[in-house]
Amino acid sequence: MKAREYSPFDQLLMQVDKAVRTVFGAPPISERANPAEEFPEAALAANEQRQVAGLMRVDHAGEVSAQALYQGQALTAKLAEVRGKMERAALEENDHLAWCNQRLAELGSHTSVLNPVWYAGSFAIGALAGLAGDKWSLGFVAETERQVVKHLEEHLERLPVQDRKSRAILEQMKEDEGRHATAALKAGGGELPEPVRQLMRFTSKLMTTTAYYL
Ligand SMILES: [Fe+2]
Ligand SMILES: [Fe+2]
Repeated sequence: MKAREYSPFDQLLMQVDKAVRTVFGAPPISERANPAEEFPEAALAANEQRQVAGLMRVDHAGEVSAQALYQGQALTAKLAEVRGKMERAALEENDHLAWCNQRLAELGSHTSVLNPVWYAGSFAIGALAGLAGDKWSLGFVAETERQVVKHLEEHLERLPVQDRKSRAILEQMKEDEGRHATAALKAGGGELPEPVRQLMRFTSKLMTTTAYYL
């Protein structure tokens, strides 16, 4: 069957719909079960609970950005195959988004109020990366995922030991992001120049420090 061709206006509407759902909508339905489900709720002191909520809010904001990055890239990526691969990864990011969202609710906390900003910025960056060509766009995914893995490792160290629910989620995310990085490199991703990587680290620092509080 021939795939339906969407007009630019249709595409724009679909993108806006996706953005609004990601940022303001009900938590998406995850494909896989939440890895936190098998663990009991931990006894957390008030300050620990605040700290975990801060960390999970950062991770949630990161997942909102991941959705936007993949959407932006899918819009401009040239090869259908690459587009397909990114859509698959975006689906897995969907699980992450849902799990972080659920954990934040369990902790009685909120998602980042700046999520619309992260979404818009990341969408633009993703679209630009897609325009730069598939080699760079895949290289960009690989580098992003590598940085996310590092940052998840840091969060895993900062989690209170008894919070096995949050730990289970972050562990699974770390595994998935590592796989996304490898897949992007295997699909032909190039190594980004150091100044670009630095800029990416700087932007992610900006997001992680603000999303912890806001
Ligand atoms: Fe993710
Ligand atoms: Fe990922």
